[in-house]
Amino acid sequence: MLVRCVYASRLGKSHSSKLLNDILETSRKHNTKHGITGVLVATSDSFIQVLEGGRAQVSETYNAITQDKRHSDVTLLSFEEITQRSFEGWSMGEVTIGQLNPSVLLKHSATLHIDPFGMSGEAVLSLLKDVVASGTVVCGNATRGNRG
Ligand SMILES: Cc1cc2nc3c(=O)[nH]c(=O)nc-3n(C[C@H](O)[C@H](O)[C@H](O)COP(=O)(O)O)c2cc1C
Repeated sequence: MLVRCVYASRLGKSHSSKLLNDILETSRKHNTKHGITGVLVATSDSFIQVLEGGRAQVSETYNAITQDKRHSDVTLLSFEEITQRSFEGWSMGEVTIGQLNPSVLLKHSATLHIDPFGMSGEAVLSLLKDVVASGTVVCGNATRGNRG
């Protein structure tokens, strides 16, 4: 049984590359071991993440993430059963919003400032799929190791 979970959270402080790297390193180790794939998008003041995998594994990981003090206001945007993955290529792909072509953002948002808390789960998922299609997801390749 495969599920997909999409959530958003807020960053107290601004991103540092160390913070992101620490999160991604833990995520990729754990996710590879537990068959979880997905993408983490870092905006200037929020995170958007999609997790796909077995229901128990995704639930457990999401529960751990909600307890993490490095972010706050963790808000579940969607949790659904799926028949196949859409983010199967990444143990945890990384996107910082500045890397994106503005047209990808403007397709889904009134301004270049993405506010996932004001968007439907469906709209956020659609944005994430376009982000992946735009080829801006880096590292965390699920099939070729973490540095792929
Ligand atoms: C924005 C964000 C995204 C995260 N994504 C994941 C993830 O995909 N997988 C994961 O195992 N941990 C992720 N973590 C880290 C977990 O919150 C937690 O630190 C990790 O699961 C280790 O938990 P443990 O110390 O209880 O073993 C994330 C943390 C943050 C702040």
